Amino acid sequence: MRTICIMNHKGGVGKTTSAVNLAAGLSRKDKKVLLIDLDSQSNVGVSLRINSEYTLYDALTGKIPVENCIMNLAKNFDVIISKENLTKAEFYLSQQQNANLILKKMLERVSGYDFMLIDCPPSLGILNQNVLAFCKEVFIPTSTDYLGYDALMKMEKVVEEINKNYRHDLRITKVIPTLFDRRNKVCKQTLEDMKSHFNGAVSVPIRTNSKVREAPKYGKSIFNHAKSSSGADDYQQLVNEVLEMGSLRVTEEIVN
Ligand SMILES: Nc1ncnc2c1ncn2[C@@H]1O[C@H](COP(=O)(O)OP(=O)(O)OP(=O)(O)O)[C@@H](O)[C@H]1O
Ligand SMILES: [Mg+2]
Repeated sequence: MRTICIMNHKGGVGKTTSAVNLAAGLSRKDKKVLLIDLDSQSNVGVSLRINSEYTLYDALTGKIPVENCIMNLAKNFDVIISKENLTKAEFYLSQQQNANLILKKMLERVSGYDFMLIDCPPSLGILNQNVLAFCKEVFIPTSTDYLGYDALMKMEKVVEEINKNYRHDLRITKVIPTLFDRRNKVCKQTLEDMKSHFNGAVSVPIRTNSKVREAPKYGKSIFNHAKSSSGADDYQQLVNEVLEMGSLRVTEEIVN
């Protein structure tokens, strides 16, 4: 199972949009996907128009086993949602021993998926640290502007710190340039800067697209909402890239 957190401590850069559409796209390619919302803003549940009695917080605090808050949304597509009560999780965790490893221990019990995708909140709090200590990969959606690039550089340092503190081998395997406008000089320059620093980890840029912005209103992924849009094309290409990385890694393991 590939465990991927979708994180950037900068807000509004397309984390949830990328998490939802990647999860939908991968499940349509016959990959079994679990999408987890780690954000008390509940944007995953709102974007896909799903609700449930039990949420991540109930599992995190030991009220129910984690399996009991998994909901099936579509073929190959399961989701764990969060609600406002997740704001209490940071306090709850801070009161526990090994606070930074509780979420990790809980997620380690989940199996049977090709991909676990975790949509993270825009912070560097205990929840995000837990997730960074659990996942093997981080995808960083980054707005293609100066402040976006600055946040990306800071995220790179955070990943280094986590690896040092937890003796972990978390890798930035995708930088996803978002809110891209190819006519805009700043966007083009930022994309070039990303590529020269992160090389092959930079994905297809996701163009600003009104269909992507309106899809959550209908509770749909971009593929169900507007499959002929530029947003669907870009996210489909991203899905293909993520799948190709997987086969590359398997090949590497066989060769080694
Ligand atoms: N490619 C795109 N084209 C147009 N609008 C987009 C695109 N990607 C994201 N948006 C819009 O930008 C806003 C922020 O996106 P999103 O909620 O995915 O960001 P986020 O990083 O998850 O935010 P937060 O930090 O608050 O969790 C939303 O209104 C979303 O619809
Ligand atoms: Mg979000």
